[in-house]
Amino acid sequence: MKLLVTGGAGFIASNYIRYVLSAHPGYRVINLDKLTYAGNLENLKDIEASDRYTFIKGDIGDGELLRKIEFDAIINFAAESHVDRSILDAQPFLQTNVIGTCSLLEIARQRGCVFLHISTDEVYGSTPEGAFNEASPLLPNSPYAASKASSDLLVRSYMETHDLKAMITRCSNNYGPYQFPEKLIPLVILNALNRKPIPVYGDGMNVRDWIYVMDHCRAVDAVFHNGATGEIYNIGSRNERPNIEIVKLILRKVSEKLGLNEGDLMDLITFVKDRKGHDRRYAIDPAKIERDVRWKPEMDFEKGITKTIEWYISNKEWWQRILTREYMEYYTTQYGERLKT
Ligand code: NAD
Ligand code: TYD
Repeated sequence: MKLLVTGGAGFIASNYIRYVLSAHPGYRVINLDKLTYAGNLENLKDIEASDRYTFIKGDIGDGELLRKIEFDAIINFAAESHVDRSILDAQPFLQTNVIGTCSLLEIARQRGCVFLHISTDEVYGSTPEGAFNEASPLLPNSPYAASKASSDLLVRSYMETHDLKAMITRCSNNYGPYQFPEKLIPLVILNALNRKPIPVYGDGMNVRDWIYVMDHCRAVDAVFHNGATGEIYNIGSRNERPNIEIVKLILRKVSEKLGLNEGDLMDLITFVKDRKGHDRRYAIDPAKIERDVRWKPEMDFEKGITKTIEWYISNKEWWQRILTREYMEYYTTQYGERLKT
């Protein structure tokens, strides 16, 4: 099997590529990645020499390039992925998440190959109670979520119109090693280690269902091998937590690692102006994947958070290089302003 994995230099897909190469010794992986601000080949340093791995720098929207690549199946992780950035500028989200996905669908249609599309629970929008299942309506609230919902609908249209053999997964919030430090969990860890203010949006009571990245990777692999084409699978952990609870948990654990008193880092918490259109609560029902694909999450949340903190502590060079790149410019524009409120 020759897998085309897109966005492989990002957080989730780099973990996925590492997983696939070790779980399936007969598989080859081609990683197609544009290397945006979020793409980082250092995420794959340990496997770059493998003769079963090839990297191609390129855009998923480049049809001419896609025609030159040989593969048996596509797993599409590539995306613009950060809600705050989509609020500042939605265009790159539409370009990659919608138009780019369409180019991949075209090549998959021409080749008649399997297409696994990695989507998000954010397409369902927010709910005060209960949990969304795969038949729930799509009610995205951020430009990011709207671009992902649009790509899901395009995938559906290719299945209906062209009989494309496709599947869609919709996962909840991931955390773990190699996550770019603009997302909540790595941002809190790094700001705690660097004694910087930790911006908590609004009242900190927004709820997300957090899943360890390797549990997501195992789920994607399980769907790829045991899922039915034409189906959508929610991937979740039944691990709902308000943001403020997570921030405090991380601060307690970082204090412990640094030999500080439990409350020593709590002063870093800074409540700031809320994100525009901030979804209050995401919740999905993962019963279908558990039943039909025989997958379930394995990582306990507190253990996963400890492992993640330890990874960031031991991989200082990885994040120091990122913090000196253009990200800092973005961070200052984004948070410098908010921290004043
Ligand atoms: P990420 O931002 O860390 O990585 C995205 C990768 O895609 C980067 O390597 C980037 O260079 C690449 N990329 C962007 N535009 C591209 C283009 N036009 N052509 C080729 N490569 C391009 O994202 P992530 O958090 O790892 O998310 C991966 C996927 O999983 C996304 O589709 C996202 O919507 C989905 N997802 C993420 C989460 C989460 O919590 N992070 C949860 C559910 C679903
Ligand atoms: P994020 O990691 O951006 O993921 P998403 O918006 O896709 O769920 O944010 C997770 C939650 O944390 C979300 O409710 C917004 C909140 N948040 C903060 O309070 N402060 C921050 O600095 C960031 C990045 C997020």
